[in-house]
Amino acid sequence: MKTWFDTARFGMFVHWGHSSQRGCELSWPLVGGVFSLPFCSNIPVDEYHSTGKTFNPQKYNPQEWARLAKRLGIQYAILTTKHHDGFAMFHTQQSDFSIQNSPYGKDIVREFIDAMRENGIRIGLYFSLIDWHHPDYPAFTEADKPYVFGQHRQPTPEQWQRFVQFMFAQVRELLTNYGKIDIIWFDGGWERSPEQWQTAALNEMIRSLQPDILINDRLPGFGDFDTPEQFIPPQPPDRAWETCMTINESWGYNPADTNFKSARQLIHTLCEVAGKGGNLLLNASPMGDGQIQPELLERLAVVETWLSANQESIIGTSPGLEPWQFYGTSTRRGNRVYLHLLMKPYETISVRGVPIKRIKSVQVLANRMELNYSTRCGIMDSFTNSDPLGELTIQVPESAIDPYATAIAIDFTPADAAL
Ligand code: GLC
Repeated sequence: MKTWFDTARFGMFVHWGHSSQRGCELSWPLVGGVFSLPFCSNIPVDEYHSTGKTFNPQKYNPQEWARLAKRLGIQYAILTTKHHDGFAMFHTQQSDFSIQNSPYGKDIVREFIDAMRENGIRIGLYFSLIDWHHPDYPAFTEADKPYVFGQHRQPTPEQWQRFVQFMFAQVRELLTNYGKIDIIWFDGGWERSPEQWQTAALNEMIRSLQPDILINDRLPGFGDFDTPEQFIPPQPPDRAWETCMTINESWGYNPADTNFKSARQLIHTLCEVAGKGGNLLLNASPMGDGQIQPELLERLAVVETWLSANQESIIGTSPGLEPWQFYGTSTRRGNRVYLHLLMKPYETISVRGVPIKRIKSVQVLANRMELNYSTRCGIMDSFTNSDPLGELTIQVPESAIDPYATAIAIDFTPADAAL
């Protein structure tokens, strides 16, 4: 089934919770950290949960986030409505452990959805199946440390029945109280079996509440798209996919982690993901007061400038040439092919196996600078074939090179047009 998601290319992930006040990773500190998050601390369980009572992000301005997202060409934004720590960022009738009972009081999820929707950005809700705070899950305690994958304390059948009812009810609230939701993004499926999660029933409930919704692959056994985490898959999966990625190495605001990717790395990642037909779900971490961390904003500002001239080569495109045709990444839209130069060329670049007699123009996308080029194909082919495939050699002078990534647009006349 084709959907908007297939060519969205750029999404924004927002990992935010009461723990952002302390400036630490979401949830994982309470279980003592995890190998995949090198800057995650170990915080006693009660101490971790205690900041739920003081959460008051007075500078939360989702309109600002939405405007930033819009300027970046972002097509959808996904917020952590409840992370593994169990704290609901929305008003819920299922428990007291939510933003409703914090000093902030207002429904953060609703404010996020309203702002994004107003700016034409589609809505995704992250929801953790794991709940390390709920007594029936059962809650994670100090005695359960260290966290070992595959070894999780199990509830009694009665507890589990109550928990599943609670979890279903929260999902129902999220998919009933906020209008149309485009994505539900589950996480944490590894701690229980699909039968325990009752994934089949959950899937059915979701589809009946929101018939057009997309579900990620972390609802075990279900889902519409793959979610490689922190890397670009070597071979693109054979269905829709999205790489989720952090700008440093933490999902939540964590000042101890200064291992930031450069703006150039982010731009290159976006080009590569687009060239492989996937989406990049790039994480932005707000601080405890609601403002996005300045180091991230600086980098996003550079990405924004690059995209202001090159967005057309990313958003809404399809994958371009085959890897053997060009030693870089490429996308396409109709009869226009975009090459992304992620390494500086030595004078010329070559593109192979393209209809050389139908090349109309070769330009630097950002400033429409025309580039000189020459073409070749097999000699006999050039006599006998009116539409031969051949080699295109493009001259790329220093002045054409963008310091972040150079996008070149090649226009072809349509195959059926007279040559
Ligand atoms: C992992 C982590 C979680 C994070 C998620 C984002 O599953 O457990 O903290 O939210 O990745 O993809």
